[in-house]
Amino acid sequence: MRAHDYPTPSIDECIAVDQYFANRLAPSDSVLQQVLAANAAAGMPPHDVAAVQGQFLAVMVQICQAKRVLEIGTLGGYSTICMARALPEGGRITTIDNNAAFAAVAKNNFALAGMSERIDQQVGTALEVLATLEGPFDLIFIDADKPNNPAYLDAVLKLSRVGTTIIGDNVVRGGAVSNPNSADPNVLGVQHFLQKLASNPSLNSTALQTVGEKGWDGFSLTVVNALP
Ligand code: DHB
Ligand code: MG
Repeated sequence: MRAHDYPTPSIDECIAVDQYFANRLAPSDSVLQQVLAANAAAGMPPHDVAAVQGQFLAVMVQICQAKRVLEIGTLGGYSTICMARALPEGGRITTIDNNAAFAAVAKNNFALAGMSERIDQQVGTALEVLATLEGPFDLIFIDADKPNNPAYLDAVLKLSRVGTTIIGDNVVRGGAVSNPNSADPNVLGVQHFLQKLASNPSLNSTALQTVGEKGWDGFSLTVVNALP
């Protein structure tokens, strides 16, 4: 069969393929399992990236040859650990979250993973913390409260260089991103974020849908081609 002759998959088939990829390309290890267990035990929402998406972020760190990574939205630090592991010698990731209780769990997770040295953990309101940081970062992952995505984009462009890659998480919103009449503040935040990406001539952007163990979601991917 040619690729376009295969039938449209069911959601169960998509999940099976995601697990097939995850088992081979992003096998879980005891550290990541303990991190997920600690996060669930702390009552965090199950918003950790899926295993293959964590591995996607790790591969992106290396594709970008990133030495300085910035993450907005630590939660329990699962994605932080995935990216930290992929950094070269001397690489560092700055990660921001405003939830002190969750940040304490993430701090433990970083120690458990042996990654504390590579992680600069900032606890506070992201827009306030971002204003104190010095760029440029090589890779930036925006994964926090979606209504602030447009403001996060403005802030991180000030911490970018020509060539910086910006990844946005959760841009599909269960498909609602394509609803022009949505009143959901999360959807509106993502739509406004994508509109800003699209209308900025200095940015080259795309988006990828993902489907699997975490349902239907996706990433935006942006390269900064010029500074304002
Ligand atoms: C949501 C946020 C996330 O960062 C995520 O990974 C999954 C879901 C949310 O706000 O629903
Ligand atoms: Mg997310």
